[in-house]
Amino acid sequence: MNQVTRERYLPPSDLPLPSLQPVLSTPRLALRPFTPDDAAEVQRLAGDRDVAATTRLIPHPYPDGLAEAFIRSLPEQYEHGKGATFAIALTDGALIGAISLAFHWEDQHAEMGYWVGKPYWNRGFCTEAARRILEFGFGPLKLSRVFANYLANNPASGRVLAKLGMRQEGCLRQHRLKNGRFEDLVLCGILAAEFPLARK
Ligand SMILES: CC(C)(COP(=O)(O)OP(=O)(O)OC[C@H]1O[C@@H](n2cnc3c(N)ncnc32)[C@H](O)[C@@H]1OP(=O)(O)O)[C@@H](O)C(=O)NCCC(=O)NCCS
Repeated sequence: MNQVTRERYLPPSDLPLPSLQPVLSTPRLALRPFTPDDAAEVQRLAGDRDVAATTRLIPHPYPDGLAEAFIRSLPEQYEHGKGATFAIALTDGALIGAISLAFHWEDQHAEMGYWVGKPYWNRGFCTEAARRILEFGFGPLKLSRVFANYLANNPASGRVLAKLGMRQEGCLRQHRLKNGRFEDLVLCGILAAEFPLARK
């Protein structure tokens, strides 16, 4: 069973997922692999109640050891072609968040997820990082589609996706139970043909 699951995620050998996870640059950011030294900052930033409040996978309170386990799991995910998770860092080196693609090679598409530490909100960092991730996905990785979902009570995430040119494709009503409340989940996506690779 494990073998079947693993095979499903291995990218076909002709897909150009680089054997080493690259560093992706933007004018203000470096998107780079996480290192064990990032764990304390991940726990501090992702441990903020307001960051956890609109995500599916970040618990609050954020337990000791989770950041280390999260970072340890990433190289294997990348090597198996299951996903690519990048630390979002300022050019001075400060870690400010995380952004990922979860691959479904059998459909040539990927799901994008992200968070940014609260001190860095509303300065365009997530949009800048996500635009670079779409360039990576639609460029060298030759994805056909990237999708992302957000809770309807998280308009900042909806705005990020709209700025990227993503379309709203649906809404799953009361789909997530978060902090004791059912929340609508908004579904968004963008096709390769809709993403202008030449634009920076
Ligand atoms: C969603 C999140 C990643 C956005 O990061 P960010 O770096 O602040 O994003 P950007 O600055 O690129 O864009 C945010 C946009 O949302 C807008 N915005 C912020 N709060 C808003 C609100 N309450 N209502 C409407 N728009 C809002 C900002 O004005 C900005 O749009 P603008 O550039 O047109 O002014 C960040 O808020 C976060 O990490 N939240 C917690 C984790 C999370 O929700 N992750 C996503 C799960 S789907």
